[in-house]
Amino acid sequence: MNAQVQEMYEKMKARLANVVPDVELRYKAELAVQINALKKERNAVILGHNYMEPALFYSIPDFTGDSLGLSRKAAETDKDVIVFCGVKFMAETAKILNPTKTVLLPSDKAGCSLAESITAEDVRALKRRFPGVPVVTYVNTYADVKAESDICCTSSNAVAVVESLKSDTVIFLPDEYLARNVARETGKHIIFPTRQEILSGDSGKDTLLDVQMIGWRGRCEVHEKFTLDDIRSVRAQFPDVVILAHPECSPEVVEAADFSGSTSAMIRYVEQTNAPHYLLLTECAMGDNIAAANPDKEMLRLCMVRCPHMNMITMEDTLNALKYNRYVIEVPEEIRVRAARAVERMLEIG
Ligand code: 13P
Ligand code: SF4
Repeated sequence: MNAQVQEMYEKMKARLANVVPDVELRYKAELAVQINALKKERNAVILGHNYMEPALFYSIPDFTGDSLGLSRKAAETDKDVIVFCGVKFMAETAKILNPTKTVLLPSDKAGCSLAESITAEDVRALKRRFPGVPVVTYVNTYADVKAESDICCTSSNAVAVVESLKSDTVIFLPDEYLARNVARETGKHIIFPTRQEILSGDSGKDTLLDVQMIGWRGRCEVHEKFTLDDIRSVRAQFPDVVILAHPECSPEVVEAADFSGSTSAMIRYVEQTNAPHYLLLTECAMGDNIAAANPDKEMLRLCMVRCPHMNMITMEDTLNALKYNRYVIEVPEEIRVRAARAVERMLEIG
């Protein structure tokens, strides 16, 4: 081990000794040194989503955070290259906001079940069916869907975005559970018209008079797995547990939890409180990252759910991304300009 690798290994070990096996730390310390050298050489910035695996999360990103925080960092950076250690819709958002930069996504397989659940044509059909109703889309969508929207939102500002529109009725896409959670918080009645109802102009038994939110049945394949039974069984074993749920979980789960917020909001919550036990109902690498940063706190694991898309981003592929300039994210300019309006409008909300 040369001195630089040794230093990186010691730094990673101090944080991750209880979370990552030593042999893996040694190997990844070497990779981290190579990635950081290449990052400097290429004048790049690395953005790491909170769901990145612990060794990557604590060694190579210049900034870590949730979708909203990383969008802001992407918009602000003056580096030539943005390497997005996250999934495709996040890298696309970086390109939308900072189009002159080269944006790289280390794996071309890092998708998202929510982003896959809806197309731009679906949004156009909804707009034809509900003319004049403003469209809010979750950032977990691709650029062409964002381009059809009035404004975007993330898990940390969805309620504020909906309220900012001051509209009796909004179309909220594509996450069914996030929509239901936002509807509950804003006191709106929500419907989910089928494709058939959208195309036929019939929205079932509901009339627009009593409809205040129109949703779509997209689901996060990770968060939909958590159930009320999970919460009941953990509370039976640990009555003093504090349960945190991402708003992509079902409304029943969110309601039965003690706190719900974006990935960064959950991290802050654990940092700033002192409960005897915490249970995180979200992607499980983040549980490891929080456990590593808070060794004095007891994190109960319900670690059955790793996001298969986030899991595609490895340190090996991040090194190759910088070495071979891949995978370059491109967004056609006509789509980018319209998508940028929706994302920038969201960022203005603060
Ligand atoms: P956050 O915006 O809370 O980081 O969530 C992104 C995501 O994909 C959660 O599954
Ligand atoms: Fe998409 Fe769910 Fe993975 Fe987040 S955790 S990237 S919403 S599939």
